[in-house]
Amino acid sequence: MNDDLQGTIYGTINSTINSTIDSTIETNIDSTNERIYEGAHGSINDFLLCRTPQAWIDNALANQDLLLIDHAHCEKKAASTALSLMYRYVDNAELLHKMSRLAREELRHFEQVLALMTARGISYGHLTPARYAAGLRVAVRSTDPGRLVDLLVIGAIIEARSCERFATLAPYLDTELSNFYNGLLKSEARHYRDYLALAEQANGGAVDDRVAVFLAIEQELIEQPDSEFRFHSGPLTQPVADKHAIPI
Ligand SMILES: [Fe+2]
Ligand SMILES: [Fe+2]
Repeated sequence: MNDDLQGTIYGTINSTINSTIDSTIETNIDSTNERIYEGAHGSINDFLLCRTPQAWIDNALANQDLLLIDHAHCEKKAASTALSLMYRYVDNAELLHKMSRLAREELRHFEQVLALMTARGISYGHLTPARYAAGLRVAVRSTDPGRLVDLLVIGAIIEARSCERFATLAPYLDTELSNFYNGLLKSEARHYRDYLALAEQANGGAVDDRVAVFLAIEQELIEQPDSEFRFHSGPLTQPVADKHAIPI
């Protein structure tokens, strides 16, 4: 057999094996999501101190392009946060495993949002930072293990809020976007549980006291009037379309 033919055969076999492995992983992730989500949504609503205000839902429906642009940023940032934790805490095998899987999923979500935006003629662009993540990080302790515990608790809260917002918004949206958001909230429910489990592991026990601290801050950020509409913003002080999207 000549080298060219051998290379072609090996290439075909490798690509078949890789695509089979990829599709098996995807199927396992999806079926795990289904099982976990069955009981997760109720517990997420119990976990968070407040539901999304109706005023924010009205803002979202009036700013759907901006909603999708910021959603894309959120997915990319979620992957970036997971990678940052992987770089800093290289000796935590459980964290490395869960964050690696989470980062892959978030980037897949990012690609899905971008595809949906492209189909709708919406341009991706820079946005001014939301107050939400920075507002939560104000209470993060400066030294480890407290710093890691706090970052993981914040991760759990952001995932829980994302899940709650997807579920709350979905009934108001067109069928395509509604189906997309109903599909995403399953992943976010699992990410919430993963972050909480990692926080308890890093703390060597329950993290109820730190969860209470950050949930109280989060409730304010969700309920207090906000000057800019974002996926994790509070209700707008003035219900006008946001003009901060800058095409790149
Ligand atoms: Fe996501
Ligand atoms: Fe997530």
